[in-house]
Amino acid sequence: MDGEKIKKKCCKKFKEKGEFCRKCPVSAHKNQANRIAPKSIEREKGHVKIESNNILLFGFMSVGKGKLARELAGRTDYFAIDTDDLIESFENMTIKNIFNDEGEAHFRNLEQKVADWLEHCVENTIISTGGGFIGVENLNDIGCVVYLQSDFDTISEKIMGHPKAKKKIKKRPLFQSTDKTRKLFESRLPLYEAKADITMNVAGKSTNDIADELLRRLEI
Ligand code: S3P
Repeated sequence: MDGEKIKKKCCKKFKEKGEFCRKCPVSAHKNQANRIAPKSIEREKGHVKIESNNILLFGFMSVGKGKLARELAGRTDYFAIDTDDLIESFENMTIKNIFNDEGEAHFRNLEQKVADWLEHCVENTIISTGGGFIGVENLNDIGCVVYLQSDFDTISEKIMGHPKAKKKIKKRPLFQSTDKTRKLFESRLPLYEAKADITMNVAGKSTNDIADELLRRLEI
């Protein structure tokens, strides 16, 4: 699609509301869009009012954070990024090799580095995270934290029953033994619950349905 067509397509919807689309190729419009998007979230018990900010998807391995981020990006004017992808490109290594060659502690430091960058440099973006991103110090300063909640058996069955199960397990260094992974899941549950602004039960639901519900709850 050429620039002019994108401009017409993405600006029309926003023009009607007197706003600007950040995906618009006209840089003046993009700047305007960023300006009308202050970094502010009002947190009240049970209700999160988001003026305009990052939406951070977190939860245990394989709950569908990346897939949901891409679905939401396709339906909104937000871009989607993934913390594991950022780490892999920064290190020019796969997560598996980072764990094997540099160790988990190094990977966790990289997660913190990404978290600092997200907090200070990124706005109005949908961010999917690795399951251990819960450990970063500034999680709640990055954006609205959406916890994708599922039970361990559903997660385990989903990954084991996947046509590419072998590949999915191979690339996740912390999903090698079911018993150990279950323990990790149990130890993280209270942390996920404590940091969530919004909790979405995703067990057995389609990405489409989860996206519908989340967009409704976020009022975007
Ligand atoms: C991890 C989850 C993985 C990846 C890394 C560590 C974790 O991401 O970041 O293997 O500690 O739970 P996914 O949650 O996308 O599998």
